[in-house]
Amino acid sequence: MADLRPLIAGNWKMNGLREESLALAASLKARAAASGGFSCDILVCPPFTVLHDVGRVLRDSPIRLGAQDCHDAAPGAHTGDIAAAMLKDAGCSFVILGHSERRNGHGESDALVRRKAAAALGAGLSVIVCVGETEAERDKGLTFDVIARQVEASLPAGATPANTAIAYEPVWAIGSGRTPGESEIAAAHRQIGAALARAAGGASFRILYGGSVKADNAAAILRIAEVNGALVGGASLKAGDFWTIVETCP
Ligand code: PGA
Repeated sequence: MADLRPLIAGNWKMNGLREESLALAASLKARAAASGGFSCDILVCPPFTVLHDVGRVLRDSPIRLGAQDCHDAAPGAHTGDIAAAMLKDAGCSFVILGHSERRNGHGESDALVRRKAAAALGAGLSVIVCVGETEAERDKGLTFDVIARQVEASLPAGATPANTAIAYEPVWAIGSGRTPGESEIAAAHRQIGAALARAAGGASFRILYGGSVKADNAAAILRIAEVNGALVGGASLKAGDFWTIVETCP
């Protein structure tokens, strides 16, 4: 797994009015242009309302555009929802699916995440499918069971390493400033790798770590052999911090 090109993805969540979003994107683009090189793929996932404008700023830069969710159906009568084809049309090449804030805040099941992922792949998007245990599940020793089940039940037919990455995001680590130990992350990623092998026939998928990745802990996390990148929330809203994480990539 260590030979996969890492992916550093910024999840802006429900943050970013137009002006600050464009300024953040412009700052990232300038940092990319000034950089002597980096060894990862870079993605930002702004809210729907600024996708198109952020995409215009990022044009002619190596930074790719993604969204944070999509509906599982084709365009049609679904008030308030966004179809995968619309994300593609807005300039996205990726979509995050199954984030715990969707699973827990919107009752999204593994089956729904799988249908959404199938719709996204069908629209020509790549997907980042998120999995991770809650603190209560961790305390009961269920971490491996939960993440294996989520991977096997959320992955759609047609998922390949070229169009799908998994993000391991312990729910208790998101936004909390707490992270699992390095050996715990490595072990969880190995479990996910084993589940991927059962679900998708042994190919090597990128497995990102997410949950309180910051400029000052990214180096230790990204050096773990089983980690192929990071899904970054809060620290992706500050261009300097996000870029430090990008440049930390081994
Ligand atoms: P965090 O969020 O980096 O703010 O913990 C990560 C995520 O939820 O994707």
